[in-house]
Amino acid sequence: MAERHARAMKKMAIYQRLLSLESSSQDSGTLPCNNLPVAQNQRFFGRKDLLRQLDEHLKAADNQSSLSSVALHGLGGVGKTQIALAYAYQKLQDLDAIFWVSAEETYSVQQSLSRIALDALKLPKAQPQAHQENMILVMDWLQKTSAKWLMIFDNVDSHEVLEHCWPASQHGAVLVTTRDAIVATLPIEKGLEVSEFNPDDGADFLLYLSHNRKRSESETEAAKHVASELDGLPLAINQMAALINARRCSIQEFGILYSKYDQRLHKEKKSGWKYLGYEHSLDTVWKLSFESLSADARACLGVLSYLSPDCASRNLHTFR
Ligand SMILES: Nc1ncnc2c1ncn2[C@@H]1O[C@H](COP(=O)(O)OP(=O)(O)O)[C@@H](O)[C@H]1O
Ligand SMILES: [Mg+2]
Repeated sequence: MAERHARAMKKMAIYQRLLSLESSSQDSGTLPCNNLPVAQNQRFFGRKDLLRQLDEHLKAADNQSSLSSVALHGLGGVGKTQIALAYAYQKLQDLDAIFWVSAEETYSVQQSLSRIALDALKLPKAQPQAHQENMILVMDWLQKTSAKWLMIFDNVDSHEVLEHCWPASQHGAVLVTTRDAIVATLPIEKGLEVSEFNPDDGADFLLYLSHNRKRSESETEAAKHVASELDGLPLAINQMAALINARRCSIQEFGILYSKYDQRLHKEKKSGWKYLGYEHSLDTVWKLSFESLSADARACLGVLSYLSPDCASRNLHTFR
């Protein structure tokens, strides 16, 4: 109770400080601006339909009539962040401001928004280290500006994180990426599921990434086989393509190797250009995902792993 009171008092003090600063921060930001965390992925592949759907739902950002919001949800490594990034670059010319927020935790949101106030918008009242105040300045700017803006909250794990930073604005667009389908619900208007690549797209992606791009029938067949073995997961295909390129082998040769040593290959890590947080081997990515599950969920997965992956009856998931 005392702690909550202290927190409320602290918040009040910050608001009072902000109110005491003369004039509002309305429209004082530097435009156009963005804080996209990495360069455009020149090897971005496919996802045209999802990009089109995203744009359809978020175009309220252009017409200024209401706040629009979409969440991309799906497995870790399926390509949500990549799609968000591709969309951001696609909209760079049309919008006045695009903000990227690392939203794993409340603290990372606060830090990202603070950096936006300081380095992207360059709000005159933003102060180094004053994360909480800077965050409020940005929220205030979003509410009052007439600029066209898009805000991306990447990697949201819970609604709780969004509660602290959901823009109270009558216009603009919010794009969320999350592994949790439940997060992709209210206040977010629309959830779009990102699925693994189907065998044909997976094969095309693998052929596209491998340097030795022979489009022979046997290579295409081998690519389809390897992509299906990897369940069409873009992260896995990307990492195996890096191994194929490093070994300078054909996809066919790699397919044979993979059928013998899949576990060992999942542990291998190739250095090279990394995109937003995937500096791990495939093995470590799985391990991190499993570790985030509850003990019950892990035990349940342990049982399910003995079943055929595609034909496990849905009834099994609803047992009591
Ligand atoms: N459409 C794509 N084109 C190219 N590479 C992709 C694509 N989707 C995913 N990747 C690769 O897979 C990795 C994981 O994708 P990412 O978007 O970070 O997954 P998620 O955000 O769903 O966990 C990326 O670092 C990238 O190398
Ligand atoms: Mg991501």
